[in-house]
Amino acid sequence: MNSIPKASQEPRPAFGTVLAPTMTLARFQKGQWGRFEAQPCKPIELHPAAHVLHYASTCFEGFKAYRWADGSINVFRMDRHIERMRQSARALVLPEPDAQQLEEMIRLTIDRNREVVPEAPGSLYLRPILFGTTANIGAAGAAATEATLIVLASPVWDYFAGGMKPLRIYIEDVNARTATQTGMVKTGGNYAAALGPTLEARRKYNVDQVLFCPGGSVQETGASNFLLLRDGRLLTRSLDSTFLHGVTRDSVLTLAREEGYRVEERIFEVGEMLEWVRDGEAALSGTAAVLAGVGTLVHHGKEHRVGSGDVGPHTRKLRERLVSIQRGEARDTHGWTRRV
Ligand SMILES: Cc1ncc(COP(=O)(O)O)c(C=O)c1O
Repeated sequence: MNSIPKASQEPRPAFGTVLAPTMTLARFQKGQWGRFEAQPCKPIELHPAAHVLHYASTCFEGFKAYRWADGSINVFRMDRHIERMRQSARALVLPEPDAQQLEEMIRLTIDRNREVVPEAPGSLYLRPILFGTTANIGAAGAAATEATLIVLASPVWDYFAGGMKPLRIYIEDVNARTATQTGMVKTGGNYAAALGPTLEARRKYNVDQVLFCPGGSVQETGASNFLLLRDGRLLTRSLDSTFLHGVTRDSVLTLAREEGYRVEERIFEVGEMLEWVRDGEAALSGTAAVLAGVGTLVHHGKEHRVGSGDVGPHTRKLRERLVSIQRGEARDTHGWTRRV
């Protein structure tokens, strides 16, 4: 683990490698959630027969709290992330966290780590995790009856090394990122499944991420949604169970509509995407990526430049609109930010 940089001049540690000193933990036992408590962020005890270690009964969330110029701390769309966590828990037949209790745990975690919330462009990344702890190695066909819920926090800066540098993306047009039925569940196994293909593409083509397009149909990358932009238009895949319904995606689409873009949510193929990027833009959206411009797509070993090859003006404009709301520099007319 890296340590928290003391001065703004110190090099910024890689995303997620520094943890805030306090976490909040609650246990589900005998059919109910117990009281949660804040405690030092340190290793926990887990039985080697724990359900999660064998049957991957785990889900998580990721979202950010920002320190505004007035010193206040504000969380972005916490309600949506809590709801998605509950939906993931239901899909995995894990004990569902109570929305109010989870919100209180998040608020307590932020409160106890208040002094390590970085100033802009940094933020405090919140990472609730839920996992089955029942000790039973014969439970492949049985739900975990005991579980632990922890809210971790991490001061973060840029997700992609190099900040606003245009990304290189490999197009995987055969395999899916995950099993179809768990695409919209934020569960560890999905990331494990995408890791091998992502590392292989990185080694072979020096790319930042893989865009999964199973059967040629454009879906999402290993850790973000995918959008195409051009003058007055935005195109992205319509919501279905095969991919994660990003809160950033929803926010960008809302802002784009307000800016007068025609937003198209539908299925589209790799061929249409390659046509679009000849004079259009492509971007990844996500809590960590924010809205990150794509400069190059690699398809069947051939490089396709996206627009000018740099981060385009539509990507920059919508990113700026979003970031200014998150940082409290523009008025939040949607009730997306919550002071904590
Ligand atoms: C697979 C995947 N898709 C999309 C996203 C974007 O979701 P959000 O905008 O809610 O962070 C993420 C990040 O959480 C992700 O891991």
